[in-house]
Amino acid sequence: MTPEPQSTTGTHDLTAGPPPGCPAHGRGPGGLQRLYGPGAEDLDRLYEQLREEHGPVAPVLLHDDVPMWVVLGHAENLHLVRSPSQFTRDSRVWTPLAEGMVRPDHPLMPHIAWQPICSHAEGEEHKRLRGAVKAAMSTIDHRSLRRYIYRATQRLVNDFCEDGHADLVGQFSEHLPMAVMCQVLGMPEEYDDRLVHAARDALKGTETALASHAHVMDALSRLTARRRARPADDFTSHLVTDPAGLTDDEVREHLRLVLFAAYEATVNLLSNVLRRVIVDPRFYARLNGGQMTVPEAVEQSLWDEPPFSTILGYFAKQETELGGQRIRRGDGLLFAPAPGNVDPRIRPDRSASMRGNRSHLAFGGGPHECPGQDIGRAIADVGVDALLTRLPDVQLAVAESDLRWTTSIASRHLVALPVHFAPKPQQEVVFGPTLGALPGQRSAGPTTPVLPSGPPLAEPVADPAGAGVPQEAGSAPFTAPEPAARPNAWQRFLTWWRGH
Ligand code: HEM
Repeated sequence: MTPEPQSTTGTHDLTAGPPPGCPAHGRGPGGLQRLYGPGAEDLDRLYEQLREEHGPVAPVLLHDDVPMWVVLGHAENLHLVRSPSQFTRDSRVWTPLAEGMVRPDHPLMPHIAWQPICSHAEGEEHKRLRGAVKAAMSTIDHRSLRRYIYRATQRLVNDFCEDGHADLVGQFSEHLPMAVMCQVLGMPEEYDDRLVHAARDALKGTETALASHAHVMDALSRLTARRRARPADDFTSHLVTDPAGLTDDEVREHLRLVLFAAYEATVNLLSNVLRRVIVDPRFYARLNGGQMTVPEAVEQSLWDEPPFSTILGYFAKQETELGGQRIRRGDGLLFAPAPGNVDPRIRPDRSASMRGNRSHLAFGGGPHECPGQDIGRAIADVGVDALLTRLPDVQLAVAESDLRWTTSIASRHLVALPVHFAPKPQQEVVFGPTLGALPGQRSAGPTTPVLPSGPPLAEPVADPAGAGVPQEAGSAPFTAPEPAARPNAWQRFLTWWRGH
């Protein structure tokens, strides 16, 4: 991007800025707004200011005053991701990178640097890599997956239910997606506190981030080697044996992509939904009273607080126009679900419910649209439902104003969600005889879902853990993914039909 005029050196004195509150606060060379540093603490507010000033596409500065466009309009964001002839995810065409303006240790380099993975590939290469990822995902049986999520939730809740208090971010949201993803990938034995900590640390970019990243990569390398030598029936094995012929490096890099993309986004989604339910009594009442289902609450959260606020980035392959701005070849653009989802042209009343409308930008769109969205949704739907069923009296243990987030351009992560509740007894959780693999992970086969013509003949595996789920007297139960008592065939069909 070349918003004029501007300095290309980044030698601007960042400390000698105008005082907070001044309209020029947070401005860099050429008067352009910085998306970092003083003045950029509240990015949501900043996006609204930018929308007012520039319309649906605004020129901004990233760290080191590297120029970028941020796409604020809903329609413009969709156009960006759905126009591969005009915009690519391959950062090698980005002018500031080609001209050496982006130093190798730029804080956003992990997001920017081109890698041989499907999220940076285009055309035939993208089809090859993404095809293998999607084919491996299509082997996951979603009913078995939901059962696994349910049991993993019960096990996590068992760890704190007798205490009467917990931090639902540190003890639940940050664990459930990792437990589920380790199972999906085929390495349930690797799931432990250390792996959870390593994944969080690697994403935080702390001093120990490199060692943490190495710890995760080591587990993924061992898994790749094991499955290359002896394929089983899991995501990794299907990736290894896919006709696309992925090399070991490609397999490992895609396991990394899937693990980190799934982990960070799903942790944020779980935390956001739980926080909303717990702090907003009207939201909780609608959920509890049956006017809203947990999947609807999840969808509303995907509108209001998309787990990835922006995706860095897309790059113009040719001179073009977007939202009234002239985009030059080699310009960079931030795909931005957070401001795009609250574009006043599609949401004049931001507080209005978006029930039944799934056209939010949380999962992207176009050729790179998130292929794991059903898994992310399932973890949130089943996890939140099962947790609230176990702890229907859960309440925030601190003032709402004391909640803290770590915010970056890419996402907003709730640091902790301290809650209290009346202590509860543990529940028995049985993972079945084959803990090593999702009980129902099936071999690659037809991927088109077939609607049943009647109640399923095959018995779903009964969940021993669900057998004794006690219901709090007077509390309206949430729809649990596994019924408390063994249901009859018709109830099971209804449960399945409703997506549980
Ligand atoms: C709430 C959870 C999730 C959210 C909000 C989310 C969101 C996204 C977004 C916004 C993109 C980028 C789209 C673009 O580049 O335009 C993406 C890509 C991707 N996601 Fe997800 N994701 C989630 C969960 C998952 C899960 C569970 C998996 C894997 C099991 C996954 C795997 C991927 C992969 C492989 C890509 C790259 C696809 C490509 O470039 O072709 N995601 N996701």
